[in-house]
Amino acid sequence: MTAPLFDDPAQPPRAPQELEPGAMVLPGFAHDQAALLLQAVAAIATRAPMRHLITPGGLRMSVAMTNCGNLGWVSDRTGYRYAAVDPESGHPWPLMPACFEDLAREAAAAAGYPGFTPDACLINRYAIGSRLSLHQDRDERDLAHPIVSVSLGLPASFLWGGRQRTAKVRRVALLHGDVMVWGGPARLHFHGVQRLARGNHPLTGPCRINLTFRKAD
Ligand code: SIN
Ligand code: FE2
Repeated sequence: MTAPLFDDPAQPPRAPQELEPGAMVLPGFAHDQAALLLQAVAAIATRAPMRHLITPGGLRMSVAMTNCGNLGWVSDRTGYRYAAVDPESGHPWPLMPACFEDLAREAAAAAGYPGFTPDACLINRYAIGSRLSLHQDRDERDLAHPIVSVSLGLPASFLWGGRQRTAKVRRVALLHGDVMVWGGPARLHFHGVQRLARGNHPLTGPCRINLTFRKAD
């Protein structure tokens, strides 16, 4: 098998795609800022290290994560919630860099959600073989705000389902620099990420980084 190609100039540019009303894929929207975003992720992770959270059911998540912004998403045996303080350190989460906030606002606007002001950014790190099972993002106070998700590094097969867990699931390739936005009628759709396939990306090595921006409070 040949290694997957990244940023292959021979590939035609991919057009923005409406998966369904409320859900948009913006191919390459973050591509030019990717290196800067990854530098910021590294700085954040020195202050709030990546960790494998425990689900309320007692399972260790295969995805490692941290947060920046006023609020961070955490999980433990007592449940899922947003917290202003990193439970590992007792300190507030690192500030959300201006370049994160600007990108999230611009992507949301491009997808039809003007005025998005995220107060939380979850930073997920997928090693080879990591996956995220189907779930809804529903811990935010006001579900009128969209979710903005930025993919960096190795490509992922994103699972896009429906309003019910049992709905048919589509597989969407999310490549380095792609941004996906969902809200409105698609806000509570189930989604997840298939087991990360082996690879080595020039900027991230053998992993994928995902940033998800939310307005949690
Ligand atoms: C998430 O659902 O929170 C993350 C999605 C992704 O990694 O693309
Ligand atoms: Fe999610």
